[in-house]
Amino acid sequence: MSGLFITLEGPEGAGKSTNREFLAERLRAQGIEVLLTREPGGTPLAERIRELLLTPSDEPMAADTELLLVFAARAQHLTQVIRPALARGCVVLCDRFTDATYAYQGGGRGLSQARIAVLENFVQGDLRPDLTLVFDLPVEVGLARAAARGRLDRFEQEGRGFFEAVRQTYLRRASEEPRRYRILNAAQSLSQVQQDLDAMLGHIVELCRG
Ligand code: TMP
Repeated sequence: MSGLFITLEGPEGAGKSTNREFLAERLRAQGIEVLLTREPGGTPLAERIRELLLTPSDEPMAADTELLLVFAARAQHLTQVIRPALARGCVVLCDRFTDATYAYQGGGRGLSQARIAVLENFVQGDLRPDLTLVFDLPVEVGLARAAARGRLDRFEQEGRGFFEAVRQTYLRRASEEPRRYRILNAAQSLSQVQQDLDAMLGHIVELCRG
């Protein structure tokens, strides 16, 4: 038995958290066993690494340190949570995964794709998401939503150019592999985004049932 690995991606303020709950409920209503998780994080140790990544600090974090921390958290999460859940036949719904590394450390920080790909292969072997939903929205809208939520984390403090590169990386990756990605317009109202998700549900359930 082997489950299905679905990831949710997008910039800050795209509504991923709300929509992942919505999607999990819809799938559970179809009798599908769903495990909801997130990156960086998903295990106690990986959540500690998340704190290191998100907490602003006086000491600047080198881009390579950031990249290695992201993959260290991922290695832990894969071993403790994702691989066992997939082996049990669960649908794993993960809020961010390696596409975020290509978008933030690659696009945002300017690290090379090839460098990221080496770590991706090292940590994941041939495991890749089966389906990736990209919640896309203009940078200003996302930044305004994030600012309205309160104190900004280390990534949210980045400027417009950083998030423009993040957005363009997601869109480019989605266009290069259209079978794996679905793009949602997250600038719409929440109810409209959820209608769009509902319209995809048949396809997702079909994938889940193999
Ligand atoms: P969020 O999950 O609350 O949106 O915040 C996680 C932050 O971590 C977000 O700004 C994106 C960033 N991140 C990376 O930079 N690289 C990664 O590989 C992952 C998973 C997240």
